[in-house]
Amino acid sequence: MEKSPHLHRFHITTFGCQMNLADTSTLVSILTDSGFRRVPDEKDADLIILNTCSVRDKAEQRVIGRLGELRRYKQARPEVRLAVVGCMAQRLGEKLVELAPHVDIVLGTDRLFELPQVLARSNGSAAIMTAFGQQEIDDFSPVKETDYSAFVTISRGCDNYCSYCIVPFVRGRERAHSSDHVVDSVKRLVDEGVVEITLLGQNVNSYRHGDTDFPRLLRRVAQETEIPRVRFMTSHPKDLSDELIEVMAAEPRVMPHVHLPLQSGCDRILEKMGRGYTLAHYRSIVDKLRQYLSYVSLTTDLIVGFPSETQEEFQQTLDAVEEIQFDAAFMFRYSVRPGTAAARLSDDVDEAEKIRRLSLLIKLQQKIGSQRNQREVGRIRRSLVEGVSRRSDEYQRARTEGNKTVLFEAANLSPGSVAPIRISSADAFTLHGELVESS
Ligand code: SAH
Ligand code: SF4
Ligand code: F3S
Repeated sequence: MEKSPHLHRFHITTFGCQMNLADTSTLVSILTDSGFRRVPDEKDADLIILNTCSVRDKAEQRVIGRLGELRRYKQARPEVRLAVVGCMAQRLGEKLVELAPHVDIVLGTDRLFELPQVLARSNGSAAIMTAFGQQEIDDFSPVKETDYSAFVTISRGCDNYCSYCIVPFVRGRERAHSSDHVVDSVKRLVDEGVVEITLLGQNVNSYRHGDTDFPRLLRRVAQETEIPRVRFMTSHPKDLSDELIEVMAAEPRVMPHVHLPLQSGCDRILEKMGRGYTLAHYRSIVDKLRQYLSYVSLTTDLIVGFPSETQEEFQQTLDAVEEIQFDAAFMFRYSVRPGTAAARLSDDVDEAEKIRRLSLLIKLQQKIGSQRNQREVGRIRRSLVEGVSRRSDEYQRARTEGNKTVLFEAANLSPGSVAPIRISSADAFTLHGELVESS
């Protein structure tokens, strides 16, 4: 591939979800193959890349803040190239350059992997590329996230159009990687030493390529590769099938964790969100998961203050959270996204009330998360060692089968090893345990 003569060192910051982390890893490998070198400090870079997120206004404000700082930086070092890629680049396109004229390159979610070519021919004026459908999806392969783990994107885009959500607009129509591409990628990653993969899609349950649906794909990955641990996200309740639960029950290498966003506990709000299920349906999936799997950890996403949500309807979300007992939840205040269907509704729950609802919800979930974690005490969980604890190197950090963080007394285990840990205590976010010595 052509090399740009002056740009050698790049720095990349990733905002947003795992999909963006996966894209960043692929982009890093493409740039490295084209002769660029990643540097840990932005100040050493002559190419600065921001891989951006648009999902909530706050996510975009963070990027705008970074761009403001980089404006001054570029005044001092005008030779530095600045590329904004990903979801916000897709959403704003040219407007981004009007907003921040020091941006040199804007590449949307389907174009970011063309960065080396764009750099090679850049002629001083801003390059903006956001058209979809220019690339063969299977031309791009997943790469390691760490020495022992990888995200494997199985589909890009989303066709669900939940009324509040910008993702279908910035990620485009749902396109599936072929199942052979996924299976071959996992085999290659295993050869490179990866022990855990996470299959990624905005809605993995709607995956379809030819005759292969998601349960089939998951079974193929578990049976045709040697990967020790397989995870997947995100699951959409409207498409989660009994077959998926059967595959989870039958394949021990599929980790017992389901991230299943509920969003609201109120059927009227779910309907307005365009989610395509009721609380009763959601409950029935949870019942089946807990009935057929000997152990499953369940996490969710919730939004408070969707347009017209009343106090009683918010209470239904609290009641649902109390009843269902999630292991953990990501909880958000509703944020208007321009161009979405919900943006036409009046954003009539005021900010103070949203904040009040969110803090009540967080408080409840913390209590429940802590209780769920208490139930782990005494159990032995095969856990993937990630490194030392962030707080103290006297402890190592690992991830249980249910995707919970566990700290245990440092035993010099190398990251990527899988060890049995007996859980001894727990709080709302972290488990503590000890290594079970194998005899
Ligand atoms: N594809 C995934 C999640 C995508 S975005 C899914 O369908 O579950 C991640 C989470 O952000 C969503 O689950 C939702 O809870 C939240 N979110 C998305 N749009 C939002 C908005 N406009 N305001 C607040 N939260 C939002
Ligand atoms: Fe957004 Fe809904 Fe698609 Fe998830 S399923 S990415 S919430 S539109
Ligand atoms: Fe992910 Fe944010 Fe884009 S959540 S898909 S990076 S809008």
